[in-house]
Amino acid sequence: MTGEPLLTVEAVSKHFGGVTALANVSLTLHEGEVLGLIGPNGAGKSTLFNVISGVEPPSGGAIHLASREITGQRADRICRAGIARTFQAASLLPGMTCWENVHVASLFCRPESAAKRSAAARTEAALDLCGLLPLAHADVGEITTGEAKRLEIARAIATEPHVLMTDEAVAGLNLVETDQVIAILRKVNAAGVAILFVEHDVRAVLALVQRLVVLAQGGVLAEGAPTVVARRPEVIEAYLGSRYAQAQ
Ligand SMILES: Nc1ncnc2c1ncn2[C@@H]1O[C@H](COP(=O)(O)OP(=O)(O)OP(=O)(O)O)[C@@H](O)[C@H]1O
Ligand SMILES: [Mg+2]
Repeated sequence: MTGEPLLTVEAVSKHFGGVTALANVSLTLHEGEVLGLIGPNGAGKSTLFNVISGVEPPSGGAIHLASREITGQRADRICRAGIARTFQAASLLPGMTCWENVHVASLFCRPESAAKRSAAARTEAALDLCGLLPLAHADVGEITTGEAKRLEIARAIATEPHVLMTDEAVAGLNLVETDQVIAILRKVNAAGVAILFVEHDVRAVLALVQRLVVLAQGGVLAEGAPTVVARRPEVIEAYLGSRYAQAQ
């Protein structure tokens, strides 16, 4: 069941010099929802995450978290407002343990979360949910790719967000590792967190999302129920192609 609009992106654009990465993108993530965002390489998915999370200001448009406008705000403020994201390229802090990596991230939580429990408690809960407590004191240089992807998620959820945005959370993982990530994200969603899931892995997308938005060349190409959208000829043409055929 999904509810009221939680994250609203209205006519957002982003230009890098002469390159238009996003052109008039509008989408809504509802409370409790898992929304998939797919599209070919260079479609603008990571750029959209960057402008939502405050890594880059948008060139135009507006972004709201519930009724609060967050357009162009600083990344730490947006995180404290309740939006957490993972990065396509691992953003782990080298030379530190898994516990330390999550602990640093947990400091950027919502004020209500900080009032309820300590950063150490949030860190432990996030590591536990991601199956990483046994590796709490391992150096991040010693963990596998699958563990690193789960640690990225642990860092994001340690901020106790309302919205979690994952950018290719299963890229490079084998089937077992992919299913571990899917199970974690299902638990996160069941705890009430809405998820915006950017992914190329069609099997993972169809396993997890309730609705799908397709981005192509910086614009929204299609939107709707995953199986319906995935069968639309223009979507297959623009993106899915052989990947979708393989998943059938
Ligand atoms: N900092 C930047 N400077 C210049 N161009 C950029 C920058 N960031 C992104 N772009 C361009 O914006 C477009 C969208 O890139 P983006 O990384 O958002 O795509 P994507 O959908 O995440 O692709 P992928 O699936 O490969 O991760 C591309 O043409 C890219 O080259
Ligand atoms: Mg990307």
